Amino acid sequence: MKLPEELQFIQNDRMVQKTTDARMDGCVCVVTGATSGVGYQVAKRLALGGASLILVCRNLEKAMTVKAELEKYGPAEVEVIQADFSRLEEVRQAAEVILARHPRLDVLINNTGLHNTHRVLAENGMEMVFQVNHLAAFLFTRLLLPRLIESAPARIIQVNSEGHRFGGLDLNDLDWSRRRYRGLQGYGASKTAQLLTVWELADRLKGTGVTINAIHPGNVRTMIGMNNGSLYQWYQRTFLWPILKDPVISGESVYYLAAAPEMAGVSGKFYNLTIEEKPAKHALDRDLGKRVWEISEQVTGLASHTEKMEADPNFPYLTNPEQA
Ligand SMILES: NC(=O)c1ccc[n+]([C@@H]2O[C@H](COP(=O)([O-])OP(=O)(O)OC[C@H]3O[C@@H](n4cnc5c(N)ncnc54)[C@H](OP(=O)(O)O)[C@@H]3O)[C@@H](O)[C@H]2O)c1
Repeated sequence: MKLPEELQFIQNDRMVQKTTDARMDGCVCVVTGATSGVGYQVAKRLALGGASLILVCRNLEKAMTVKAELEKYGPAEVEVIQADFSRLEEVRQAAEVILARHPRLDVLINNTGLHNTHRVLAENGMEMVFQVNHLAAFLFTRLLLPRLIESAPARIIQVNSEGHRFGGLDLNDLDWSRRRYRGLQGYGASKTAQLLTVWELADRLKGTGVTINAIHPGNVRTMIGMNNGSLYQWYQRTFLWPILKDPVISGESVYYLAAAPEMAGVSGKFYNLTIEEKPAKHALDRDLGKRVWEISEQVTGLASHTEKMEADPNFPYLTNPEQA
C-alpha cells in the first residue's frame, strides 16, 4: 500500500538504500560530533573510503581514541579539533583553525546534535538544543563557506531528522520562556530551523559548485538523549534501543550523499537515509525560512559579516537571490 506523500517517511527507511563504491581519496572532510553514534560511523566510512578527516568534537579524550582507531582504517590523516558547540565562540575558533590549516575543504558534515527532555539555556541565553543543533551548525557552515566555494565542487551535509515533523518552532519564543518546554518539540524546532536554512543556502549557492542537502540518518541506536535523567535513560535502554537500528546504516547513507557521483550537483534536498523525501509542510515555508535566516545571522553575529561579504564583488554568493 502506498502511503500519502506526507506519511511516506514511515516506509522510506524500510526501503533498499543506495550505496556507492566511489572512493574519496585526497578529499578533505570535516565531521562534527564524531565521538559517538552517527558521527562516528560517518567518520569511519569516510576513512575507509580514503578521505582525510577533520573531526570537530567537544571531548578530546574520546576524540583521540576515535582518531587512533580511524587511522587504522584508511591511508589518510585524521585531525582533531576541540570545540563545545554550545558556545558559539568555540565554533568560531574551530572554524578559524580549520581555515588557517586547510587550503582545501571538500565536504562538511554537520552532525553534532542532542535532545533534552528539559529546558536548558546556553551561556548566551539561547535554548541549548536550538543552539547546538541549528545555530552552531549554521555559524560553522557560514564561516567555512568561502573555503568550500574556493574548493568547489564541494558538498555540505546537514544531519537533520524526521524529528523536524514534531514542529515547535516559534520565532517569538525561541528560548521557550513563554511555553512549557517539551523535548520532542524543542528538538523539532531546531531541526525545522535547520531545514529552512538549507533551502535558503541552496538557493544562495547556485552556480558556486557547492551543494547542501539534509539527511535523516535512520532511527538508530546511539547515545542521543542519554544526557537526560535516569528515568529517561532507563526508558531509552529498555524500550527504544531494542527497536532501533545499528548506526552503521547512517554512516553508509551519509557516505552516499558525500561521495556518490550521481549526487554531484544535487542540492536543496531532504533525504531519509538515501531516499529523497518531502519534509513536513511547516519546514517548506520559505517566508518563515527567510526570517529564520535573518534571526540566525543576528544571534550568531553573522549579520555584519554578511554585509562585508556582500560589499565584496568577489564574494556575491550570500546576497538574497530575490534582492540580486
Ligand atoms: N539516533 C537517531 O536515531 C537519530 C535520528 C535522527 C537524527 N539524528 C541526528 O544524528 C546526529 C548525531 O546524533 P546521534 O544519534 O549519533 O547521537 P550521539 O551518539 O549522542 O552523538 C552526538 C554527537 O554530538 C556531540 N555533541 C553533543 N553536544 C555537543 C556539544 N555541545 N558540542 C560539541 N559536540 C556535541 C556528541 O559529543 P560527546 O561524545 O562529547 O557527547 C557526539 O559526538 C544528531 O544531529 C541527531 O539529531 C539521530
